Amino acid sequence: MDTDLTRPSTTGQADPIDTLPPTFRWGVATSSYQIEGAVAEDGRTPSIWDTFCRVPGAVANGDHGDVACDHYHRMPQDVALIADLGLDTYRFSVAWPRVQPGGRGPANPAGLAFYDRLVDELLGRGIDPWVTLYHWDLPQELEDAGGWPNRDTAHRFADYAELVFGALGDRVKTWTTLNEPWCSAMLGYAYGNHAPGRRNLGDGIAAAHHLLLGHGLAVQRLRAAATTPIELGLTVNLSTADPASDSAADRDAARAADGLGNRLYLDPVFRGSYPEDVVADLAAEGVRIPVQDGDLEVISSPIDVLGVNFYFGQVHSGVDEQGRERDDDGRPVRRVIRRDLPRTAMDWEIVPDSFTELLVRLHRDYPGVPLVITENGAAFDDKPDADGFVADDDRVAYLTEHLRAVARARQAGADVRGYFAWSLLDNFEWAYGYDKRFGIVRVDYDTQRRTPKRSAHWYRDTIRRVRGER
Ligand code: NOJ
Repeated sequence: MDTDLTRPSTTGQADPIDTLPPTFRWGVATSSYQIEGAVAEDGRTPSIWDTFCRVPGAVANGDHGDVACDHYHRMPQDVALIADLGLDTYRFSVAWPRVQPGGRGPANPAGLAFYDRLVDELLGRGIDPWVTLYHWDLPQELEDAGGWPNRDTAHRFADYAELVFGALGDRVKTWTTLNEPWCSAMLGYAYGNHAPGRRNLGDGIAAAHHLLLGHGLAVQRLRAAATTPIELGLTVNLSTADPASDSAADRDAARAADGLGNRLYLDPVFRGSYPEDVVADLAAEGVRIPVQDGDLEVISSPIDVLGVNFYFGQVHSGVDEQGRERDDDGRPVRRVIRRDLPRTAMDWEIVPDSFTELLVRLHRDYPGVPLVITENGAAFDDKPDADGFVADDDRVAYLTEHLRAVARARQAGADVRGYFAWSLLDNFEWAYGYDKRFGIVRVDYDTQRRTPKRSAHWYRDTIRRVRGER
C-alpha cells in the first residue's frame, strides 16, 4: 500500500484526492444501537439487538449496547467533535424502538425529543443531518410478529418512516431508508450471525424482499409528505466478486456471489426486476422471492441518491480443494479464496482498486443516480499511548487509498458526490462487540473519554486542503 499518507508527489503527480470538487460532501457516520446506550430510558423498548446480545455466545465477550458510547447523554460533546473536524455532514440513524416503542402506534415524544435536539445541535454548528431510518434495531415486538420475513413489517416500517419525517422533516433534507439490507436479511435471517439469529435461506430472502418493499413504501410516503425539496435514498453494502480463474466454474461462482450480494438489491430498485440468474439460483435451493403484484413498481420508486458502503472485495471459486465442482449434495461449489493481501483487523482484504472498479461499474450498469459513499473505513488493533492518543497510520493509509480510489472513479466518470468515514467513534461492532475499533476518535469505555486519533487529524487536514482552506 502507498505509504505517502498526506501529500502527493512521490511520483511528481498531483494527488487524485485534490481533484475532488469544492462541492464534495465530507462526513462521518454512526448508528443508533452502536453508540447511544440508554436502552431503557425515556420509553425506549428492546430491539432485536438487545435480545440477541443476551443469547450466550452470540456476541464476542457477551458485549451489548446498554451503555455503548453513552452518546445519548454526551450528544452535544460528540457534535462538537464533528464540528472540530470541519465536516459538513453527519449521518446517524434513528432508533425505531425509541421513537415508536413496540414498532406500531403513536410516537414517543421523549424519544423523538433526542433526535430533535441532535438535529438542532447539528444545524446550529452548520452541519447537515443525514438520517438513516433503519440501521438494524427492529423493535422486538415486530420480530415476535414474524420480523422482516413477515410482509406486514414493510408496512410498519413505512408508518414509522412517516412518523419520523413528521417530526424532523422540516429540518432534515436527506433521508436514507435502510442501511445495508443484505446484512439485515442474510446475516440476520439466513446465516444467523446477526440479530435475530435465524438460519434459513427462505427467511433471509423473504426478509430481503420485504426490506426492499419497506424501502419503496417509505420513499413514496416521504415524497408525498414533503413540502420542500428532499433527497431520498437507500444505502447498500457492495463488494467486488472476482473469479479466481477464467474457468467456467470460477466465473459462475463470481456471478452467483455478485448476484446474491449486489444485484439482488440494485436491480429491483433501479430496473424494477429481480435478476433472472439469482431467481434461478434460489429456485435450485427451493426458495422463491415472495413478490406480489405491484411490489416491483413500489420498490423501483425513483430515488435521488444511492449510498454505497464499501469495505473489501473477494475472489470466488467454483471448485473445491479436491478439484470438484459439486459438493456431496450435488450443489455447485461456492468458495471464497484468500488472497495474499494486507488485511484489516476484521480480516478483510484491503483492495482500494476494487473500490474504483465498483463505482465505475455502478455508473455504467445503473446510470443516472448520484452516489455518496455513506461508509468506508477500517478496524485495526489500535495501541493508545499513555494519554489515549492513537497514532493509527494503518487507518490513515487505508482512508487515503480509498479516498484516492473514489477520486479516480470520479475521473473515470462515476458521479460520486460525497464521502463519509466509518466511524466517528469506536463503537459496538455487532457480533464482534467492542473489540473491533473503527473510530477516527478513540473511546475509552471505562471513562467514556474521547481522543481524536491521528486519522481524525489527517481527515480534518485533508478536507481543508481539498477545499483550499489552507
Ligand atoms: C457496515 C455497517 O453499516 C456498520 O454498522 C458496521 O459497523 C460497519 N459496516 C463495519 O463493519
